[in-house]
Amino acid sequence: MDKADRIFVAGHRGMVGSGVVRALERRGYSNVLTRSREEVDLIDQQSVHRFFDNERPQHVVLAAAKVGGIHANRTQQVEFMYENLMIQNNVIYGALQHEVERLLFLGSSCIYPKHAPQPIREDSLLTSSLEPTNEGYALAKIAGLKLCEFIHRQKGRRFISAMPCNLYGSGDNFHPEFSHVIPGMMRRFHQAKQENRDAVTVWGTGQVRREFLHVDDLAEGVVRLLETYDESETINVGYGSDVTIQELSELMKAVVGFDGPLVNDTSMPDGTPRKLLDSSKMLATGWEPKIPLEDGLQRTYQWALEQGVFRD
Ligand SMILES: NC(=O)c1ccc[n+]([C@@H]2O[C@H](COP(=O)([O-])OP(=O)(O)OC[C@H]3O[C@@H](n4cnc5c(N)ncnc54)[C@H](OP(=O)(O)O)[C@@H]3O)[C@@H](O)[C@H]2O)c1
Repeated sequence: MDKADRIFVAGHRGMVGSGVVRALERRGYSNVLTRSREEVDLIDQQSVHRFFDNERPQHVVLAAAKVGGIHANRTQQVEFMYENLMIQNNVIYGALQHEVERLLFLGSSCIYPKHAPQPIREDSLLTSSLEPTNEGYALAKIAGLKLCEFIHRQKGRRFISAMPCNLYGSGDNFHPEFSHVIPGMMRRFHQAKQENRDAVTVWGTGQVRREFLHVDDLAEGVVRLLETYDESETINVGYGSDVTIQELSELMKAVVGFDGPLVNDTSMPDGTPRKLLDSSKMLATGWEPKIPLEDGLQRTYQWALEQGVFRD
């Protein structure tokens, strides 16, 4: 890839998209194209094709999607499935028709079966049933990665996909109801500190394990894949180790500076006991994560305070 190539980052206002724009600029790419939803609604096929006709991007990173935590996914399966299918079909097929050279589609670890052997390898895909609470989202993502795989094999084009673990960092969504685990927990600890509460409640037993990768580490990986990866099979991008929700809560308590005890609400569901990706293929590309969880949480909290996200 040439540093002057035109690279369209779809979803540049989101956590991942904004991280990818920063990473591309750090690597010296000088021609990054972005469009807000108001300028190009990616659900609208005509609008997407008009954009490709006019701007002729050479490469695309597809980081636009309808994204949310467990509550949002469970209550809006229709919207998660429909909007994601529309966005990815329009962008991936539009890119195919408009001679885009390289495209990287972002999916998520929820594409893998609920009971996949741990750590989860790429070849676990479609070996058994999905987690029902986010099935609409996962099925859309599977369709997207398969479309890229078929284009790679059938048309010989460099359309690839990457499946990250849970992500966090600057640009994350701190919505009180619809956020992922880290921003949701950070908000609860911050409020408890502000309001001098006695304790913070941790949902479930706290014993389930989750893997978290900082968005800047992911973004470095995305740029590396765009530059070097040329296989039809999707590739996992994870931190490589996981923590229990209890351990995450203890770290969060220290980062936010809350003094009181943690109380487990065991009436809340725990979810899948473990979700750790096998990222050995990704590590073989020479990439490795550089931001330890505690450091990443500190950066994220600092960013959240600066942005005033807790005032919403
Ligand atoms: N967050 C995670 O933990 C995580 C983990 C694994 C994988 N991923 C994947 O990473 C990708 C990006 O996630 P994220 O966390 O960065 O999400 P995000 O912060 O919600 O960003 C999504 C972006 O997509 C844009 N978008 C949504 N619908 C659009 C439409 N119809 N037209 C134009 N733009 C639209 C949004 O635009 P607006 O700014 O206008 O809303 C936003 O900029 C997703 O594919 C997701 O599956 C995320």
